[in-house]
Amino acid sequence: MDHFHYRDGRLHAEDVPLEAIAEACGTPCFVYARATLERHYRAFDEALAGLDHLVCYAVKANGNLAVLDVLARLGAGFDIVSGGELARVLAARGDPARVVFSGVGKGEAEMRRALEAGIRCFNVESAAELERLDRVARALGVRAPVSLRVNPDVDPRTHPYIATGLRESKFGIPAAEAPALYRRAMDMAGIEVTGIDCHIGSQLTTLAPFLEAAERVLALADALRAEGIPIRHLDLGGGLGIPYRDERPPEPAQYASALRQLLAGRDYAVILEPGRAIAGNAGVLLTRVEYVKEQGGRRYLIVDAAMTELIRPALYDAWHEIVPVRLRPDAEPVLCDVAGPVCESGDFLGRGRRLAAAEGDLLAVRSAGAYGFVMASNYNGRPRPAEVMVDGGRFHVVREREPVEALWAGERTLPRG
Ligand code: LLP
Repeated sequence: MDHFHYRDGRLHAEDVPLEAIAEACGTPCFVYARATLERHYRAFDEALAGLDHLVCYAVKANGNLAVLDVLARLGAGFDIVSGGELARVLAARGDPARVVFSGVGKGEAEMRRALEAGIRCFNVESAAELERLDRVARALGVRAPVSLRVNPDVDPRTHPYIATGLRESKFGIPAAEAPALYRRAMDMAGIEVTGIDCHIGSQLTTLAPFLEAAERVLALADALRAEGIPIRHLDLGGGLGIPYRDERPPEPAQYASALRQLLAGRDYAVILEPGRAIAGNAGVLLTRVEYVKEQGGRRYLIVDAAMTELIRPALYDAWHEIVPVRLRPDAEPVLCDVAGPVCESGDFLGRGRRLAAAEGDLLAVRSAGAYGFVMASNYNGRPRPAEVMVDGGRFHVVREREPVEALWAGERTLPRG
């Protein structure tokens, strides 16, 4: 459930009509509903109540400071993948002791910064990374809390670009090699083993692959403990899908209750890293129809948003619902392709949609709160859009539209003469 709904034929975010936001902030712009972010975070947190747990929101899904701040105020942890994301979390006053650091390519400076900040755990993805982290931590005179990301070799049955737990993927350590690496870690003065983790993919719509992965990770954790390796937490990553169209992904409560059964009688703490499930349906991309164009038997709505704001349709052939901001009960919906101004045939937001829209109308592209703005680019000289957060009956610009000068900020021409 989210907080975007029609009232008197006009689409609202919570109690604010989207027309008012377009009027004040222009388009294209992302609009987030605070109430939805909070609701989704709490769905995870409450589902895990009673278990020692931490919900680490995956910052990569939407790292806007206001989003991080809203979640931090609820006690959220954060899953980061770079020094940049760590800096964002700290700027939003997130608690570093609730941060886990994922990613296959952590640089030394990033490790140092995270150690200085005092993060909860490094999710280490290779032997080479473990050695580097040991060296960096020893140089600082500290021990790095570590979990090894194991690759449970489970098919998440999702889009190949966002499947990460298969044997051939670049992520994690093969489960069979993990015990030996844990033994080495136990001998490293700069490393403190604290847990084990996995992440098998994103936009999963069934529980089975999660549970298959959890079972494998749990079996491994038990075996490690039996050897005296102090595994205290299991971090099962993110990946719970959302309804974009007619998917019916499991609820966090169903996932949590299956985990409870699996973990019964064990005292592992549980960490989850949901991104999309918290932010995805908490945001829309607001756009205006610039032109209606009939061509080659197709009707195009050329809108002012593009793959530069939301690349998911172009990149993954992802389907996002596109709805009018003002209903036109008297107009007949017709089949159209919704495309942006960017000079690429792949620049579309939706194809074959039934819409009754005319030049100047506003449309909302739904489910754009995750992997929307964060994947935006300046291609074709397009300043990145504004971001707005609605809070009840009020709205706040939480990121200004980029001024055109930002397009060349930091650039230099060659000296003359
Ligand atoms: N943890 C790790 C280690 C991850 O790699 C990811 C996502 C997450 C957590 C969060 O997954 P989520 O709960 O959001 O599914 N750009 C793609 C999604 C890429 C996800 C990458 N990793 C998209 O737009 O669908």
